[in-house]
Amino acid sequence: MSPLLPNGRSIVLIGLMGCGKSTIGRELSRATSLPFLDTDMLIEDQVGMEIPRIFAEMGESRFRVLETALLNYLRDNPSPRSSGIIATGGGIILRQENRAILRSLGFVVWLDVDLPNLLSRTARAQNRPLLHNADRESRLRELMAIRSPLYEQTAHLRINSSNLKASQVVDLILQQAPSFFADSLSNG
Ligand code: S3P
Repeated sequence: MSPLLPNGRSIVLIGLMGCGKSTIGRELSRATSLPFLDTDMLIEDQVGMEIPRIFAEMGESRFRVLETALLNYLRDNPSPRSSGIIATGGGIILRQENRAILRSLGFVVWLDVDLPNLLSRTARAQNRPLLHNADRESRLRELMAIRSPLYEQTAHLRINSSNLKASQVVDLILQQAPSFFADSLSNG
């Protein structure tokens, strides 16, 4: 068992596309030697298609069903392989059911990044169907307005990481995680 996380519990990263969930998640995984899981990658493996194709062939609503099914699986099968550092897709907080499951998985951290940084960080990638063929600035602004309250209510910790290096974000999370897990153990 890792000294940082109680058995079967996780650090879960949430936030908009481009906020750094995968980068920070991988760094956290390296720093802690805990497994790195990425909900988008797990869904891609399960379906055998990449996200843009899942959206094109099955639609966003089916993708949301797959996200909920995956979260239920992670909650119901806690094991060293299904827990650790979990990066999530940006829209995973849209369903109320998902928000509750995310909080039950462990320490949920919202990487809150401002619009200019999100714009530059999403400039090149082609693998995000919600930004494809869109005015990225208005789309991200709109997603931010709709989703910020949902990230807020799901997260145990919000980090404004716009101007922080990945290593600084990792340090902040590692500083806060022990007291979160100590409190959650003592509160049952
Ligand atoms: C989505 C974000 C993507 C991916 C899908 C939908 C969203 O993940 O799940 O394209 O609704 O914001 P990232 O946040 O990792 O890009």
